[in-house]
Amino acid sequence: MNVNSNWTVEQRYRRLEQITSHEVAEMESARVADSGFPSYHIAPKFGLLNDPNGLCYFNGEHHIFYQWTPVGPVHGMKYWYHLSTKDFVHFTDHGVGLEPGDDYDSHGVYSGGALVDNEQALLFFTGNKRDEDWIREPTQCFATMTAEGTIEKQGVIIENDHYTEHFRDPKVWKKDDQYFMVVGAQTPAERGSMVLYQSPDLETWQHKGPIKTRYQDFGYMWECPDFFEIDGKSIMLFSPQGVSSSNAYDFKNIYSVAYIIGDRLNLESMELEGHQDIIQPDYGFDFYAPQTYLDEQGRRILIAWIGLPDIDAPSVKNQWAGMLSLPRELRLEEGYLVQSPVAEIDELKGKKEVFSGTHVLNQTSFMLRLELESDEFSLELRNERGDKVIFSADENEFTLDRSQMSQNYAQEFGDVRKAPRLSKRQVIVVYVDNSVMEIFINGGRHTMTSRFFIDDLQLVSEQGIARACYYSMQPVTGLFD
Ligand code: FRU
Repeated sequence: MNVNSNWTVEQRYRRLEQITSHEVAEMESARVADSGFPSYHIAPKFGLLNDPNGLCYFNGEHHIFYQWTPVGPVHGMKYWYHLSTKDFVHFTDHGVGLEPGDDYDSHGVYSGGALVDNEQALLFFTGNKRDEDWIREPTQCFATMTAEGTIEKQGVIIENDHYTEHFRDPKVWKKDDQYFMVVGAQTPAERGSMVLYQSPDLETWQHKGPIKTRYQDFGYMWECPDFFEIDGKSIMLFSPQGVSSSNAYDFKNIYSVAYIIGDRLNLESMELEGHQDIIQPDYGFDFYAPQTYLDEQGRRILIAWIGLPDIDAPSVKNQWAGMLSLPRELRLEEGYLVQSPVAEIDELKGKKEVFSGTHVLNQTSFMLRLELESDEFSLELRNERGDKVIFSADENEFTLDRSQMSQNYAQEFGDVRKAPRLSKRQVIVVYVDNSVMEIFINGGRHTMTSRFFIDDLQLVSEQGIARACYYSMQPVTGLFD
């Protein structure tokens, strides 16, 4: 299925003001009619959402921006769409936060992160410009956001002097009065890398070069780099393209997400010293471009795009695509990043219903808490006709099987994903929201995040689960004005 292949470049690169109110109304009514549209996940009112951008805690609120193509459920002219929330339950819709249109971002305001500094939030982004021959000329740019919410673009701070046209997605932090920026880049030898810049004043940026690890030859491009510390360890998180693995678990999606934990970044040698092997945080079908930030409680929070570039999910026929993951708090445990939904999400939970065998769903946004004690179990989400998605395990591995859904897609990348099972006794938490599931396995050391498409989803059945609890989930509010 590829509804989107008919779109011309001219159509994709139309700006918001070139879409008629009639087109908007049609897109919105198609989205409203979609029973797969989520109720407690962030998704676009129409058009395509991709990467989370500019995540920060600023002026008493979490600010969440995302890449948005308003013209339809396709990749095209990118904007930053802006939401904020104090509690992840009530949101404020600020509409477009950053729009393209200057010479340096004539073809889109691409991804980047935020830094709160001197009573302002600095929003770093990539100016995506294409010349007459459609050659990309990316630059790293920034904008300021005041406490009153005024956002102003400040222009280009870093030109592309060292890399191919793939040079994007700045993420900035401050340490000891110095600013550091990582950018996702393709080296002239066409290898993916995370490159570092340093600045004393946000104006002059010194190119320090690629961060060195044992993964110098690992794919042709690394998108959406992030670099942060937890418990004194330095962590590189990024979205590599062009990687694969012969084991049953790793790098099965078109593009992947990986992290490397090291002892410290040596700014002289540019080495990530004392680093472990690379790890994949998620083993589902749809997880990409995660970004993290620190909030006022010192929590390191991760939000990812639930979707992938170059894959059209069935929701495109309802004129929308993509959603954001739940905000996940990160901790470091025994060499793994451990993810758990932030505590605020609990506020959305209804009362507990214990079930065994089959549970008839009274709504399709819910959470399951599953206590595992045996080697084997299975959990099915299905309709009365038998269309289903199956999550199961044996003693060694978890399996998520999407081969029998009502609407299948992206099958050229396989319709089964597997993850290692690190222990027999464990509690698994599954968040389901109409057409998305986020499964937290191995105590949060791994997740399996996936879209699924079952028409008239009605039943959950379990087999072999020691104790299964169902909780309804309430919708969040304020995502659309
Ligand atoms: C990742 C990505 C980024 C880029 C953005 C454009 O999904 O390709 O590298 O900045 O999307 O929307």
